[in-house]
Amino acid sequence: MRRIMVANPKGGSGKSTLAVHLASWFARFDDIVYLADLDRQQSSRLWLKQRPAGLARIRHWQLDEDELPPPPRDCNVAIFDTPAGLHGKRLKHLLGEVDRVVVPVSPSKFDMLASQEFFEALAETKAVRQERVHIGIVGMRVDARTQASRQLVEFLGQFDLPLITCIRNSQRYVRAIDSGETLFDRNEPAPADREQWQPLLDWLVKRR
Ligand SMILES: Nc1ncnc2c1ncn2[C@@H]1O[C@H](COP(=O)(O)OP(=O)(O)OP(=O)(O)O)[C@@H](O)[C@H]1O
Ligand SMILES: [Mg+2]
Repeated sequence: MRRIMVANPKGGSGKSTLAVHLASWFARFDDIVYLADLDRQQSSRLWLKQRPAGLARIRHWQLDEDELPPPPRDCNVAIFDTPAGLHGKRLKHLLGEVDRVVVPVSPSKFDMLASQEFFEALAETKAVRQERVHIGIVGMRVDARTQASRQLVEFLGQFDLPLITCIRNSQRYVRAIDSGETLFDRNEPAPADREQWQPLLDWLVKRR
């Protein structure tokens, strides 16, 4: 079973967008996917509620704030969408329950500064130090060829964390999410988008 957490304490960094895209990607290939929304705002649960019938099925897995039971027995892929401000005991607890953490970071100075403390907290965690959980960064709303993206790479250099890919800024994401869908539903994603997602999908399924 794959257990993937999407996290960044910075609000609006793209966590829910990434989480639902990953869920729909795996669901397309017949994986039994459970999406757990740990955010009080319940954005990804509400998205799931308005998902049109007939699309690849994503199951909802209800978790309360303080409990974290193992994923349901039939689960192949568990995706955790987490709230802004995640830190401390709750973060540590979650890190012990997943194999991969995807951290979306927008290549703005403010977002990078806000992420810094989070990276430091991650690096200090036992599960990360013992390589039981692997962290990958995703540049969100960024064009890989821009100065901003180069700054992101430079910034990440301090933390020894891999920048897996950059996802461009596109209204297609906003429109898809608005209708309970993702870029992976219905048609094949555009080659440019596919190219951006592929390194992340490869990283998530790579054996350690
Ligand atoms: N690649 C993208 N291109 C354009 N817009 C995007 C992209 N990714 C995310 N967004 C938009 O940015 C906003 C924030 O994204 P999202 O809700 O996924 O972030 P979040 O980290 O889950 O926020 P929160 O911390 O509030 O839970 C949303 O309006 C979303 O549609
Ligand atoms: Mg969210």
